[in-house]
Amino acid sequence: MTFEELRPQVETILQRDTAIDARLTGVCELLKKNIPYYDWVGFYFKNGDKDELKLRAFAGEPTDHVIIPFGKGICGQVAVSDQNFVVADVKAQDNYIACSIYVKAEIVIPLFVNGKNIGQIDIDSHMADPFTEEDERFLEFVNARVAEVLV
Ligand code: SME
Repeated sequence: MTFEELRPQVETILQRDTAIDARLTGVCELLKKNIPYYDWVGFYFKNGDKDELKLRAFAGEPTDHVIIPFGKGICGQVAVSDQNFVVADVKAQDNYIACSIYVKAEIVIPLFVNGKNIGQIDIDSHMADPFTEEDERFLEFVNARVAEVLV
């Protein structure tokens, strides 16, 4: 399925009359199911007033890394940089937290509410170097729609 086809489906899921966490899980499942190189999809958010991220919704294998301190791993770096982080080859990263031996690449896109970085979407891929600017634009769109339902 193309990103253009997925955009309205993301919006439909986010408008459902269910709990936010169920809608976020629905978005994770939609992306994992329809984008062949998305092998794990999750949303992390700042954990209260602590300088750490907490996993809130995901699709794929359960991970041990439910809590990630700011600055640690790709996710923790995005929590402090406010920048997209596209990792073509996770083996080339020093500050990386491995979730599965099968993961070759990762993309993390920060999620802003009123200009504040409050969380992120994180995708792991078993394929080497699969992510392009199209993924970045699509995932920025997803996060912007999520931000709308969080406020
Ligand atoms: N690889 C991430 C940790 C989260 S798992 O991918 C689910 C990182 O380095 O921050």
